[in-house]
Amino acid sequence: MAKETLFPENFLWGTATSAYQIEGSPLADGAGPNIWERFVHTPGMTSGGDTGDVACDHYRRWREDVALMKRLGMQAYRFSVSWSRVMPEGRGPVNGKGLDFYSRLVDELLTHGITPMVTLFHWDLPIALDDRGGWLNPDIAHWFADYAEVLFKALDGRVQQWATLNEPWVVADGGYLHGALAPGHRNLYEAPIATHNLLRAHGAAVQRYRSVGRHQVGLVVNLEPKYPASDTAADRAATQRAHAYMNAQYLDPVFLGRYPEEMRDIFGNAWPDWPEADFALIRQKLDFIGFNYYTRSVTRDDPSAWPVRASRVMQKLATYTETSWEVFPQGLTDTLLWIRDRYGNPPVYITENGSAFYDPPVAEEGRVHDPLRIGYLRKHLLALHEAIRAGVDVRGYMAWSFMDNFEWSLGFAKRFGLVHVNYGTLERSPKDSALYYSRVVASNGASLHEEN
Ligand code: BGC
Repeated sequence: MAKETLFPENFLWGTATSAYQIEGSPLADGAGPNIWERFVHTPGMTSGGDTGDVACDHYRRWREDVALMKRLGMQAYRFSVSWSRVMPEGRGPVNGKGLDFYSRLVDELLTHGITPMVTLFHWDLPIALDDRGGWLNPDIAHWFADYAEVLFKALDGRVQQWATLNEPWVVADGGYLHGALAPGHRNLYEAPIATHNLLRAHGAAVQRYRSVGRHQVGLVVNLEPKYPASDTAADRAATQRAHAYMNAQYLDPVFLGRYPEEMRDIFGNAWPDWPEADFALIRQKLDFIGFNYYTRSVTRDDPSAWPVRASRVMQKLATYTETSWEVFPQGLTDTLLWIRDRYGNPPVYITENGSAFYDPPVAEEGRVHDPLRIGYLRKHLLALHEAIRAGVDVRGYMAWSFMDNFEWSLGFAKRFGLVHVNYGTLERSPKDSALYYSRVVASNGASLHEEN
């Protein structure tokens, strides 16, 4: 029985974080400010007015964090680089001290036998670039490639897996269309432009990597499968729109060199005709796709839901996490099969997967009992294994997140960590889920069939 859930040989097990969510010390050592600092210091933008000023203080406690990963037996660590630490103005001069921080982190990981996976952009755009239009300015493709090149030249070799962007959909949808995330714009006309420039920047960075790097580069997307709430033509069409908007909008251009047709229906006049030449830039050959999976959406037609005209229907008998996301492991399998069939079975890493649940206080001997998170993890790993058995080329799994952290506009209220962080003392305590995951990693998945 146990043998059946052994994952492929060389399957990479680890955890993930991102810079602004954990580091703190935003302006230390010559770093420039980023848009999240401006956003969190604008009243009313985050739950409880929380900021990432201190976060998990990882900028100063990174050695301790890497040591804990090692104790837990982690094989890989996906983290992101803060652009404005490395280039305070977003372009031009490099801040050696900022670059050194990541260089030392990489060395420390390697010393402990942990493979670093680096994401170049996880939402914390330098303010200096936002002031020039940010993702709305077409020049950002070159700014991003120049920044990426600094990292490639400094770290390629020690780092062998690079991701350009984390979740471009969230940047465009949260940052430019609905405004819930930095830079907080709410503009139908801006969102398509932001999307297109994100994809151009991705392409330009991959192109640059091929001239200076020797290992692997990919893109990280969040995908959420959409299932129709009923069999009516209206609900099925809404589901198709929602799927095109959230899923195919990013992977179609990257793999097929075009946007899904539904985009014009969704955005109307706000959807421009793009120059054909842009697609040659966007459609670079990738070494892998990073797939972040959290939930699904059961979708119904809803003319009032701007602009996609589709909304989510809550399920009566389902379990929901603290972020109101349905626990639906089958969606992970289904989406992996969709990637396999639509895009020719590219190598995939699960670059994020996890859940926020209410955690009881830290109990005696530092234990945190989080059975719901263990259940979520176990079911999703079994669903992942199912996809691998069906021939999907999955190379690794990074649990979100290594530790509790700053959950963007939700502040510190939602805890996704395998490791508990006490935000008063900054003490780290591995939750039961961390110990559980540690056993899964050590057995390459065989322990998934144990009762607990
Ligand atoms: C993001 C993370 C975030 C997580 C949970 C993903 O969309 O990449 O930064 O913390 O979801 O919301």
